[in-house]
Amino acid sequence: MRGTRVEIRPAALAHNARRAKALADGADVFAMVKANGYGHGLTVAAQAMAAEVDGFGVAVLEEARTLREHGIAAPILVAEGFFDRDELLEARALSLEVVVHSPWQVGLLLDNPGPTRLWLKLNTGMNRLGLRPDIAVETAEQLAAAGMRAVGVMSHFACADESADDRTETQMRRGGKVADALGLPLSAANSAALIRYPFARAQRVRPGIILYGSSPFDWQSAAQLDLAVSHRFSARLIAINEVRPGDAVGYGATWTAARPGRIGVVAAGYGDGYPRHAPSGTPAAVNGQPTVLVGRVSMDMLTIDLNGIEADIGDEVELWGDEVDVDKVARACGTISYELFCQITGRPERTILGVGRQTSDARPKD
Ligand SMILES: Cc1ncc(COP(=O)(O)O)c(C=O)c1O
Repeated sequence: MRGTRVEIRPAALAHNARRAKALADGADVFAMVKANGYGHGLTVAAQAMAAEVDGFGVAVLEEARTLREHGIAAPILVAEGFFDRDELLEARALSLEVVVHSPWQVGLLLDNPGPTRLWLKLNTGMNRLGLRPDIAVETAEQLAAAGMRAVGVMSHFACADESADDRTETQMRRGGKVADALGLPLSAANSAALIRYPFARAQRVRPGIILYGSSPFDWQSAAQLDLAVSHRFSARLIAINEVRPGDAVGYGATWTAARPGRIGVVAAGYGDGYPRHAPSGTPAAVNGQPTVLVGRVSMDMLTIDLNGIEADIGDEVELWGDEVDVDKVARACGTISYELFCQITGRPERTILGVGRQTSDARPKD
């Protein structure tokens, strides 16, 4: 066995969902499970958190359909709504909550009236999806006149995870004004806003990344936020090479040994979803000993520094998980954990931890 593995921990997901519920202070928690449960597995993630949350958020109808096919009966919000008439009809048949973010969707609804659980999405300042707040009330009235009264108002924050954030409050005020005018519940908070801004919790929050054991903030780790590791990526050492001063390692010869040493070759590369742009110095761990990548990541392998480290062929190297904080790997690569989780390919073996081991393994590290 090559031994390149992703371990998913349902008990950690449940723990993190309970954390979100406690933080929400009475607001409904809709767990975002889009993009294959942030790479954890759509149904695995939803089933692990089902007892802890009030509903789920997905991006597209196919994801909602899969959840229904796997027996998830909880409310499901489809964040991009429907793309055509067939999807609108299917969303109704599956009792989904659909987001209406654009005038063309309003047109489609008016052409195909029928009972639909509608959330009006507002553009409160992110300038991505959403109706302009100044047409939202009129739009809601049009829909209501056709028998489709919206059930909520939602928005999304652009900067809630930025250390210098002066936008979230304004966005919240804009959303709150429309929700008040329509007498509807408001949903705006992502993970960062849920933790940081009690004023943003409103009636419903939509955390994603904290459920997957990662911090939305540069200045606070997942462990400090009492989040449990839900995704661990590891591989084995398949070769150990001696290097002399001046020896270069890997494609492009981007790293050169300054002194005699040992290099470990690890059976994971971008063909497994490890980021190719991870630079020399990106953290990893062997047998609990911290080390770093040296040289370029290739398709099937990467190389690590073994100087001063006890390691043998076949030993396990953690790429992220318990010893190696995924957020630190992401930072070294100039990206975010979201992308690391999502881009794992189908090649690594996936293990879903059984209930027995999950509980102890799910405990957050200090
Ligand atoms: C509409 C919407 N709500 C909530 C979230 C969850 O955000 P986060 O994972 O940062 O908590 C996302 C994710 O991007 C989103 O697109």
